[in-house]
Amino acid sequence: MTAVRVAVLASGGGTNLQALIDALHNAPEARVAQVITNRPHAGALDRARRAGIRATVLENPDDPAELLAALGSDADLVVLAGYLKLVPPAVVARFRWKMINIHPALLPAHGGAGMYGHRVHEAVLASGAAESGVTVHYVDEQFDRGPIIAQARVPVRPGDTRESLAARVLEAEHQLLPRVVLELARRGVPSQPVRIS
Ligand code: GRF
Repeated sequence: MTAVRVAVLASGGGTNLQALIDALHNAPEARVAQVITNRPHAGALDRARRAGIRATVLENPDDPAELLAALGSDADLVVLAGYLKLVPPAVVARFRWKMINIHPALLPAHGGAGMYGHRVHEAVLASGAAESGVTVHYVDEQFDRGPIIAQARVPVRPGDTRESLAARVLEAEHQLLPRVVLELARRGVPSQPVRIS
């Protein structure tokens, strides 16, 4: 079995990247082959370097040619894990159904442009929802709109702050993302949308 080569795009600390690195470390199905960021000081870069994974900092993340060149021909599955830039349409088209994103809420609620980090959890708390969660979905030309692949639900507890909710959701993220990546790899990264329960 040839391991699926996963390219991870991240803008921040990279704890989801770390969860993937750790989960795929001894997995024959898939491996993290490269990390790409739009931020030269992203914590995700340090995690990649510590794991001996090739890392690239994009000069212009809005330039499809630069991102396609960085991805090269050795990306079978592209994972957005806290990547805050909109992926150019030409790159979305090139990786249709081969590019996924993780979002810290139960989409379609609490997603879209500007909805990242604590803003998401503030919106969930303000809505009075009894539960929140994580969504892994395909990437399309809009933020957080592509077809959903999998979700995990997390309770909202009395007295929750945006920080306590974010921490509980992040734990669920670190479980769901590797599970989805491994399942897509086992299925050979299908060229049409799938739903994983
Ligand atoms: C995660 O909550 C992810 O769902 C969101 O951005 C955050 C990134 O966290 N898109 P990290 O950089 O993986 O720690």
